[in-house]
Order: sequence, then structure tokens, then C-alpha cells
Amino acid sequence: MARQVSMTVLVIDDDAHIRIAIGKFLIARGHTVIEAANGEKGVEVVESQAVDIVITDVKMPGMDGFEVLRRVRSVAPEAEVIVITGVKEAENAFRALREGAFDFFNKPFKVEELHAAIQRTVRYQVLRKEKDRVQDRLDRFVAQERERSGLNALIGESEAVAKMKAQIQQVAATDHTTVLIVGETGTGKELVARAVHCESDRAGGPFVPVNCSAIPGSLFESAFLGHKKGAFTDARADQKGHFELANGGTLFLDEIGDMPLDMQVRLLRVLEDRSIRPVGSSREIAVDVRVVAATNRVLSVAVREGSFREDLYYRLNVFAIQVPPLRERAGDVLFLARHFLTGYARDLRKPLVGFSREAEDLLQRQVFPGNVRMLKNAVERAAILCGDGEIEADDLGFDLVEGGSIEDSGVDRMVQSFPEVQMNLPAFERAMLREALRRTEGNQVQAAALLGISRMVLRSRMKRYGLV
Ligand SMILES: Nc1ncnc2c1ncn2[C@@H]1O[C@H](COP(=O)(O)OP(=O)(O)OP(=O)(O)O)[C@@H](O)[C@H]1O
Ligand SMILES: [Mg+2]
Repeated sequence: MARQVSMTVLVIDDDAHIRIAIGKFLIARGHTVIEAANGEKGVEVVESQAVDIVITDVKMPGMDGFEVLRRVRSVAPEAEVIVITGVKEAENAFRALREGAFDFFNKPFKVEELHAAIQRTVRYQVLRKEKDRVQDRLDRFVAQERERSGLNALIGESEAVAKMKAQIQQVAATDHTTVLIVGETGTGKELVARAVHCESDRAGGPFVPVNCSAIPGSLFESAFLGHKKGAFTDARADQKGHFELANGGTLFLDEIGDMPLDMQVRLLRVLEDRSIRPVGSSREIAVDVRVVAATNRVLSVAVREGSFREDLYYRLNVFAIQVPPLRERAGDVLFLARHFLTGYARDLRKPLVGFSREAEDLLQRQVFPGNVRMLKNAVERAAILCGDGEIEADDLGFDLVEGGSIEDSGVDRMVQSFPEVQMNLPAFERAMLREALRRTEGNQVQAAALLGISRMVLRSRMKRYGLV
């Protein structure tokens, strides 16, 4: 394969016989040859046009081969230099190699030696060009990914989102720092994880998402560390584990808060080691991954309740990113809704121009327990159901989706599921207060907002029910 590639070769020698002999040899093999009778002229050629290989004599009047080598390395670092030395000048050959020549051959001119040196250089040049092409493609891919999954993919104009984006940038600039992403369901934790990856130097490497709540305990080692063929009955072939698959990139441990306790211990051990040994293998493999974990549980509470290991919590909670719930992103609801609508209009090929006044009002009054995901689904549904033009309030169908508007807050549904057994209203109220406080991590302002009452009323009820 290497023989078929045509290179541009510059031959520098004050001896015309040698230039012509080498030139003939190269032209016969399909290469393009440029001749120069001294070092100065040779360097001029390199400065004015692209050359793949430079073959230069060492001893020449004026600029010698070492100087040519030095100049070529600085002007055209992608070109490789082969030096021609006398048989008795082993010193010169070594010095040239030390100073960056790719190869050398001896004078008087021996065709096998010349052939071998050029073959090696051509092969190397072909590989280097191939590598540059691959690198080029990778760079373009990374740029595309960044456009799709980087910070740009996170829509939102609110201060809360701006703050979160700044944090993503800060931590993306680090190489290994573990990231813990926390936030309610549907707030965009996975998007944040992808953005951390795409904005980092690891963007060209793999992003490997793992749902930690869905791995059977018996398969933990096999899934995370991989296994060798025959390590156990079902191991029909070698298989790489999540850590090895993520090597050079980012491992995304999703739903980490739902990982069973016994697996948490095993995971912690791997995280501490930074090297893995696949099941059935005797070899340790060093892995270079950034770990990003996400959960919609409040881990500090889970630690207190004993369902999450404290040591793993500290191991993961190095740099925490809090993804704000939609209710804390003033102004973003409409912004997001319009963004999603544009996308669905394109997908559905429907001329949808926006939301009617009533629909916008409704969106802004709506409570979104399912956060951005819930809003996105509502817009998709409306886009499918409505006619052309504007989305009307009715198209949003919020009485059908979970949550309800602020006025009814899903009360209808709750009343429908009224228990057959006797109802204890105060106990119910107390439970609701506790749940609101739990969801907001004890933040009374937020809990009151969630319950639709003032903070003063919340305080007095908390006292009444012994919650303070
Ligand atoms: N800021 C945002 N801009 C655009 N789309 C968003 C944004 N936040 C979330 N989304 C979209 O909302 C949906 C839910 O996001 P994602 O899956 O990242 O949520 P999550 O926090 O991981 O939820 P869960 O805890 O339920 O797994 C996705 O379709 C995502 O693309
Ligand atoms: Mg998620």
C-alpha cells in the first residue's frame, strides 16, 4: 500500500550525479522529485512549497546538512528528513538522528540502503497523514457534539441556569474532578452530565451512561469491570466493563441514589483504585475516567437514613452541581416552551407560530412537578393535537397531565383516590407538610410555595403538628 502513495521529495546535494541517481530511483516509484544543488536553495524550496520528504547530504559547501535539518524542522515540521552520510561518518549519522532526522543512508550510494530508508519514511508519512485525517474527523465530530450536547443544549435565560452553566464550565476545565449532579426529576441532569463531558478535554473520548438502579447485584463486577471469556458459565466472549469502555472519557453514574447498599461498597472500592481487573483476568488495567454521578434523591438525607453510604457520598460529592427545579427559573417556562415548540413544529412539519395569550398565561400558572420533562411532553402533545397556527390553552390539556394548575393542584385526582377507610384530615395535612419540607430540604419559603400557602401559615401549622 505504501508503495502506491506518491510523495513530494526534495533532494539536496552538491553532487549532480547523486541527485540524478536518487531522482531516477524515486521517479520510477511514482514520486515527485525536486532537486537543489545546495542547502540555501533547498531551504528556499521548503519555505515556498509543501514537501513530504527531504533527502540531504551532510557535507556541502555553504549551508551544511545539519543546518538544513534544523531549518526544515522549524519551517516544515511535517516533512521528514533523511541524511546522506559517508560510510566513515557514523558520528554524523548519529548526530543527525539525535537532532531529529528520521533516517540516514550511506555514500557511496547503495540502492538497497536508499530503498529501505525511503520505504520506512514513506510508510511513516502515510500513517501520519492517516492519523491527521482521523484527528481531523474527530475534531469535527467533537465540534458537532459540542453544538448539540454542550452548554448550548441547555436552554434557559434565568439567573439560576446561568449560574449552573458557569459551574459546568469551571468543572469541565478540570481533568479528573468527580461531579455530583443533584436535582429533582426532569430538571435536565443528564443534559448537564453530557455538557460537562462535551465542554471538557475528554470530549473526543467516550461518554458512557450507566443506570445504577438497574444493575442486578450478581452482575455488578461483570458490568463495571468486564469479564474474560469463560470466567463464568454465560461468559461466551471477552467483554469490557463500563470503566474500561469509558477510558479516556466520562463515566456517567445515573440514579446513583438508588444503587443498593452492597453495590455501593463495591463501587467505592473501584473508584478508590482507579484501576480494574476484569472477572477471570489476572491483569490490572489502569483506567483514566472522569466520574459524573446524578440523582434526584437528597443524598445527605439518604445518608442519615442509612440508605446511602457516607464514604461513597463524600467520594462523589467533590464538586456538586445543583440543577434548579423549573419553579426557580423565573421566565424560563415560556422560553423553554417556545424552544420545544420550534423543534416539534419542524419535526411534525406543521406551521406552528407560538402560543396564544391564554395558553401562555396557563403555562405560567402551571405547577410542574415533573419539571422540564413535563413541560416538554406537554408541548409535544399540544403540537400534535392542535391545528396550524397558535397553540391554544385547551391544546395544553393540563387537566389531563399530572400536577394540574395552581388553582386545583391535582386536588380532583386526590379526592378521587379518597380512601375507603376512615380519613384522618389532620394526619393527611401533617404528612403533606412533611413531604413538602422533605422535597425542599427544609426550605420553608419553597415548601410554602409548593403547598400554596404563606410562610406564616406554614410556620403555624408546623408548630401545631410538632414539626419544629
Ligand atoms: N435546560 C434544558 N434545555 C432543554 N431541554 C432540557 C433542559 N432541561 C431538561 N431538558 C429536557 O428535559 C428532558 C428531561 O431531562 P433529563 O433526562 O436530563 O432529566 P433528569 O434530571 O435526568 O431527570 P430524572 O431524574 O427523571 O432522570 C429531556 O428531554 C431534556 O432534553
Ligand atoms: Mg435522568
